[in-house]
Amino acid sequence: MLKSVTIKIIVFIGILISLTTCTWKASDPSVCFSENILPIFVSKCSMSGCHGSGSKRRSDFTTYEGIMTKVVAKHPLRSEIYTKIEGLGANMPPKNYTQLTEQEIYLIKAWISMGAQNPSNCITVCDTTSFKFAEDIQPIMNTWCVGCHSTASAGGGYDLSSYTGVVKAVTANRLMGTIKHSTGFSAMPQGGNQLSGCQISKIQSWINSGYPNN
Ligand code: HEC
Repeated sequence: MLKSVTIKIIVFIGILISLTTCTWKASDPSVCFSENILPIFVSKCSMSGCHGSGSKRRSDFTTYEGIMTKVVAKHPLRSEIYTKIEGLGANMPPKNYTQLTEQEIYLIKAWISMGAQNPSNCITVCDTTSFKFAEDIQPIMNTWCVGCHSTASAGGGYDLSSYTGVVKAVTANRLMGTIKHSTGFSAMPQGGNQLSGCQISKIQSWINSGYPNN
């Protein structure tokens, strides 16, 4: 008797804790579709043969509309996009591809819970005068490029997950042309939109200053 009461109390406390955490996550206002959610799909799901642009057999995850075909706004657990990446039925990305991080899974869940919107007025702070490798350049690579350019899968032979790898693309003169979509270069991120002017400018300034490991 006492035992079952104790169990009930424990379960009740457990539910309370999970409810408070969920509410807190769902009301996190800092998730912006174009800055936080789209890059995850472009970098980790849209390599060719997977969910790339124009993909008919599988959904195209390079656009908001394409992603929304697998989302039920406000209901992550009814959204295939979420149930395929977290929980018992999770099997994406396939084993041999770069996996999503805990933070990315959390962001996707929070974004769906908040209504899965695509507002154009997200407050994004991008400061062109700041172009340090660790603080500015590597995070851009991690967000937009590393899904296809890591040790697991080095597109074009470039692993952009470390300083050495990024510098290799710089010294081969392949980095700026690809992100500026210049002729003679493969446009990067492959299948996605171009990086923002501010991000391109940061990378250019870092290269101009001698691409230090700072
Ligand atoms: C969806 C997967 C994908 C994403 C995301 C992606 N790449 Fe690529 N990248 C590739 C593949 C595949 C190749 C090799 C085939 C080719 O050149 O098109 C490649 C090639 C390259 C090359 C060599 C191409 C050349 O013209 O010399 C560079 C440099 C490069 N990527 C940089 C980047 C950068 C920087 C980003 C992020 C801003 C990025 N890539 C994002 C898949 C991707």
